[in-house]
Amino acid sequence: MARITAGVASSHIPAIGAALDNDKTGEPYWQPVFAGFEWVKRWEVEEKPDVVILVYNDHASAFDANLIPTFAIACGERFRPADEGWGPRPVPEVEGHPDLAWHIAQSCILDEFDMTIINELDVDHGLTVPLSVMFGQPAAWPAKVIPLAVNVVTYPPPSGNRCWRLGEAIVKAVASFREDLNVQIWGTGGMSHQLQGMRAGLINKAWDQRFLDDLTADPERLRTMPHIEYLREAGSEGIELVMWLIMRGALGAEPEELHRFYHVPASNTAVGHIVLRPAEATPAAA
Ligand code: DHB
Ligand code: FE
Repeated sequence: MARITAGVASSHIPAIGAALDNDKTGEPYWQPVFAGFEWVKRWEVEEKPDVVILVYNDHASAFDANLIPTFAIACGERFRPADEGWGPRPVPEVEGHPDLAWHIAQSCILDEFDMTIINELDVDHGLTVPLSVMFGQPAAWPAKVIPLAVNVVTYPPPSGNRCWRLGEAIVKAVASFREDLNVQIWGTGGMSHQLQGMRAGLINKAWDQRFLDDLTADPERLRTMPHIEYLREAGSEGIELVMWLIMRGALGAEPEELHRFYHVPASNTAVGHIVLRPAEATPAAA
């Protein structure tokens, strides 16, 4: 049986990818950012996930105003890094897991989540930067990846509670897949940031820290938090954090917090990262 053994979250700031791709990780500005991901890189080597369900948002790379799926699951064999204006990132292609992805699509749709199914998808920094910070710079990614794209770019994004319940439907889907697979679910994006307008550069450290605290200990508050609070407190792009609730909803009650990292600044945003173990999961090595 497949099982979800961990939930991982991190920001997906494109400048982090550019720093890696251009060998700047040792520079004084970047050193503390990458130091914050050393723990998870070692941990992932031990965990050896077979598949990562990677919840992310596309930034007008694969979708634009012509097509705005709220939840889209990618069921293809492989996904190329997207060209976001300066050529694709020099990172490996992403290998999918079509059998598990179709199974999750079927289970979620029959559970009344009307997922969009995508077979061809180029994946942008929202997906490739988290892979880089968690897995480093290997010749091939060590896990298969099921991209799950969420609309947080065009109003209205899904509610936090809807995201949470999708996480619950996903863990049920994974648990009914017969193959023995070690599956992780990642939530990406955030934390507080605003890229445009009068408040560009907004960072709210206290609000970010409370979001991290509550993700483990008081998720009920986050489930019902209205969109306007993300916007007001965490900036216009802070809404990306609703995607972390899909990850969290898949972990059930009282997960254990294994690791946390928070740092400001990277580009003009806050970096957040957390690793959670569901109460009922057994570590991969056990
Ligand atoms: C930036 C872009 C993002 O998509 C994001 O989530 C954070 C930062 C940026 O362009 O700096
Ligand atoms: Fe983003």
